[in-house]
Amino acid sequence: MKIAILPGDGIGPEIVAQAAKVLDALNRHGMKIEMEYGHIGGAGYDAAGDPFPQATEKLALESDAVLLGAVGGYQYDNLPRPMRPEQGLLRIRKKLGLFANLRPALVYPELVNASTLKPELVSGLDIMILRELTGDIYFGQPRGIRVLENGERQGFDTMHYSESEIRRVAHVGFKSAMKRGKKLCSVDKANVLDTSMFWREIVTDVAREYPEVELSHMYVDNAAMQLVRAPKQFDVILTGNIFGDILSDEASMLTGSIGMLPSASLDENNKGLYEPCHGSAPDIAGKDIANPLATILSAAMMMRYTFSDEVSAQRIEAAVRSVLKQGLRTADIFEAGMKKIGCAEMGDAVVAAL
Ligand code: IPM
Ligand code: MG
Repeated sequence: MKIAILPGDGIGPEIVAQAAKVLDALNRHGMKIEMEYGHIGGAGYDAAGDPFPQATEKLALESDAVLLGAVGGYQYDNLPRPMRPEQGLLRIRKKLGLFANLRPALVYPELVNASTLKPELVSGLDIMILRELTGDIYFGQPRGIRVLENGERQGFDTMHYSESEIRRVAHVGFKSAMKRGKKLCSVDKANVLDTSMFWREIVTDVAREYPEVELSHMYVDNAAMQLVRAPKQFDVILTGNIFGDILSDEASMLTGSIGMLPSASLDENNKGLYEPCHGSAPDIAGKDIANPLATILSAAMMMRYTFSDEVSAQRIEAAVRSVLKQGLRTADIFEAGMKKIGCAEMGDAVVAAL
């Protein structure tokens, strides 16, 4: 297996180093994972003047999977848009055709009290947000800033979804629901947007191929509310790119810390890019206090989805549970009575548990 490792910016290099330790540990137990490093985001801009350098594109295309840290940093905030770190992320998603973004929100029993919601609302929570990742207003053309006839300037973007884009991600959603609780809630804004009206029509059509899955539809404003009112009503949430961006951040807080949430972005053939849901956190970069568990759990998702290696996936996840049971906590999930440790120590603890 060949994995491209793209640490990126901010805390990216620290957290990715911990996940690499875990992959090294798997190698010591007979796996053959080859890791090659590349630059993305601000690191790409610094190294090659481009947030998604040619060399990185080549490496990503010839690898079976990509493990990514995070991108972004204050020093890049004033660069022209094409040079901004986020563009590196959007371009690699598009280039690799990673249209299906799985963001599970799982509450570990040990962290029930770390959530800002009442324990009874979130205890046992296990939902899967499936966000479409290569379409929608994120990529729609035309976009820009133009001058109107009256001389006023106007910013504009274009939201659209083609039928094939909706169908392929809907299939991923229904298949995922079949393996879980057999419930799928499609989230849109069909009461206002034509794009959403169409989305709803196509999802409803795809549902006929999955009679065992209970399909519901929800407007995105209501979904945002229901996620904090009664999150356990959901199993799989299927939604478009921009709604999924927002709802997945919201869902992450149900679990206590965004530092715990992994993600997988898959193409048609389960080639994937794996990254934590959180950002580059430049304010704590280099301090060895970041939580590497989301990145380590992303490596577990890689074993599951790209390499169909459920055993290794579960071993990594069990190791993470075990360090939590031991009372080890990084600062973001710390509570009284637990032992506060740094990023590297957390990586070592997971390797020891593994
Ligand atoms: C995410 C991030 C990205 C997105 C940004 C950094 C471009 O917020 O992965 O959720 O909006 O998709
Ligand atoms: Mg986001």
